[in-house]
Amino acid sequence: MRPRNEPTDAANREYVFKILRFDRRNDQPPRFARYRARAQRGMTVLEALLKIQEDQDPTLVFRYSCRGAVCGSCGMVINGRPDLACRVQLSTLRSHEVLLEPLPNMEVIKDLIVDMEPFWEAYRAVEPWLIADESHGEKEHIVSEKNRARIDSYVNCILCACCYGACPVLGRDDRYLGPAALAKLYRFLEDSRDRRDWRKALERVDAEHGLWGCDTVFRCVMACPKHVRPTDGIEGLRRRLVIEKTAGLFRRRRK
Ligand code: FES
Repeated sequence: MRPRNEPTDAANREYVFKILRFDRRNDQPPRFARYRARAQRGMTVLEALLKIQEDQDPTLVFRYSCRGAVCGSCGMVINGRPDLACRVQLSTLRSHEVLLEPLPNMEVIKDLIVDMEPFWEAYRAVEPWLIADESHGEKEHIVSEKNRARIDSYVNCILCACCYGACPVLGRDDRYLGPAALAKLYRFLEDSRDRRDWRKALERVDAEHGLWGCDTVFRCVMACPKHVRPTDGIEGLRRRLVIEKTAGLFRRRRK
């Protein structure tokens, strides 16, 4: 799906890291700093960053937590492509020069750390939680295997914002909700347990900054490290919106 090179034996090779440095508290413009680090077998970009930070430059900053492609903290642009630093092994990169930049479409706080508040704001706007039938009480909400299969890939989203950073629409419209939020809404549209008023929920995203903002160029799909396909979800939401609107027209006619 997202071909990087087949792993080669990177052990003991020297890599040059060009890292974009910036601190919004200073007046200094962004600049690239160069570091050299020797790779160990299976070393990831995150591990190389930790080594550089420990051995060469403790002022270098980046986010991480789980180190296992689960928490979504370590999204950054690696050789021109948004990805998780803890997932990308040096041996899979085409070059021994590794260019690291912060995710686009969000303000840089320092070095590889961006301010994700606009991402979270968009995410909260779609009410990204299950709104179940309250009369169901304390009983389990059973999902069929077939239904689970439909939402499976969307459940895998770890909110790393790689799709948000890759989205060309957000580069020109910072009010656009973005791929992750819309994909999450689609995840609940397809979830048989969700009982929200979908006519109202879809009306809220029936806007240029919502469903209709997407250019359908699949950059988010290419960027997603968990193989989520936000563009397909956005298309699914658009289809359902058209169905709801058409049904609304017929309802009005009958009155
Ligand atoms: S550190 Fe958690 S996803 Fe990379």
